[in-house]
Amino acid sequence: MPLRRLSLAAPLALCWLVLIVHASLYPFSGWRSQDVPPWAYLEAPWSPYWTGFDVWVNVVGYLPLGFLLALALLRSGLRRLAWPAGLLVPALLSLLLEGLQSYLPQRVPSRLDLLLNAAGGAAGALLALLSARLRLIRVWDRFREEWLSHESPLGHVVLLLWPLALLYPTPVPYGLGQFWLRARLLLSEWLQDTPFAHWLPEPVEAPALSPLLLLLAIALSLVAPLLLGFALLPRPRQRLWLLLVWGLTAPVALALSTALTHGPDRVWDGFSLPVGLGLALVGLSALAGLRLSCRASAVLLLLALGFALGLLNGTPESPYYAAATDAWAGGPFLRIHGLSQWMGWLWPYAALGVGLQLARAAPLQCPDMSEPTRQPNSYYERHIFFCLNQRDNGQDCCAAHGAQQAFDHCKARVKELGLAGPGQVRVNKAGCLDRCAGGPVAVVYPEAVWYTFVDQSDIDEIVESHLRDGQVVERLLTPPDVGR
Ligand code: FES
Repeated sequence: MPLRRLSLAAPLALCWLVLIVHASLYPFSGWRSQDVPPWAYLEAPWSPYWTGFDVWVNVVGYLPLGFLLALALLRSGLRRLAWPAGLLVPALLSLLLEGLQSYLPQRVPSRLDLLLNAAGGAAGALLALLSARLRLIRVWDRFREEWLSHESPLGHVVLLLWPLALLYPTPVPYGLGQFWLRARLLLSEWLQDTPFAHWLPEPVEAPALSPLLLLLAIALSLVAPLLLGFALLPRPRQRLWLLLVWGLTAPVALALSTALTHGPDRVWDGFSLPVGLGLALVGLSALAGLRLSCRASAVLLLLALGFALGLLNGTPESPYYAAATDAWAGGPFLRIHGLSQWMGWLWPYAALGVGLQLARAAPLQCPDMSEPTRQPNSYYERHIFFCLNQRDNGQDCCAAHGAQQAFDHCKARVKELGLAGPGQVRVNKAGCLDRCAGGPVAVVYPEAVWYTFVDQSDIDEIVESHLRDGQVVERLLTPPDVGR
């Protein structure tokens, strides 16, 4: 029996929500009361100072949240909640954050912002519902079926965040996770004048990395996202695509980070000899490792990250690097400065968590390395068979429980939604399926999911959720031990 998968939309919605909270309340300091209630801005006159950019950023900032929330609920089978949640959660979040901004001296709460945010969230939710209705989600389903790992949806999110984590400058190119020196500084500030202050280990005067160790640190940092991808993507074709995207993304992210830190005229400054060598070495090694099993990739990921973090966290920060991060902090991306910094620090630790999960759960041998799981010659995408068996000997049967009416309704509904036909859905009659005790029953292939239904609303849900959107309706599943 296939299990319903966690939708990627749920963790992505959470990530987007964190991004909104961060951008709305950064720098999270200077809180003070202005002796007006936090909802006073709702009654204030409209501000004459707004620009097209304000409108755009407030709508577009909340649109993905509404879209991802509604999508996550649609794909979790909670269809009725998708629209209200996609509409209300962004609006309530904006109401809360605008109210909190009244306590921050650098921020000005605005009724217009609230309305635009709510409109953005509603537009996103509407887009998600339209995508489901127009069956655009099925395109994504096919992509997901072929490309994304069932083992760790979170792993894909971590992989997608790698280029963003690189935006914040790092002391060693691509060397994410150099956290210990900063953490020690923060801890020593917090613990100052407490009895715990002397518990912190004394900072060790470490020499800078030799050229060889520098190359090793760069190479290990660069190979980590590839190994994470290999642990998630089993087929060589998928891995070749990943390698191509990595080969384009890694230089672009470094160039962008350098340009944001030092200005566009110094965009190529980060491309030193060790960086070039690291990129070439890792690219060639990944080509040689295209047929690694998923579990071997996960174990190698743990080793690579372990060594890289050990090397990076034993390296001193140069004054030049401190000046660079100060420049970034005051640069054009002020509101995401702190978030990108944390992403740069924490990405390897999130990847370690996913690596640990995959090292335990991923198959020792990857599935068929050359063939996609989807049957290329499948005539229908899904088949649903209804038992219409009629017994005249007094024994119970599906026909005695409205199976014919359910079949007719299903056929009509599938046609009405434009799902009938080759490449889509076929509704078929069947004789006794030998699970009479669970009757009336129907079974959907190729997933081999058995349903026991009661009325037409159950059939509607099976059609819209499973036959159209590919989501199993768990509440209608026939218990596994039910037979004749
Ligand atoms: S009568 Fe329907 S499964 Fe047997």
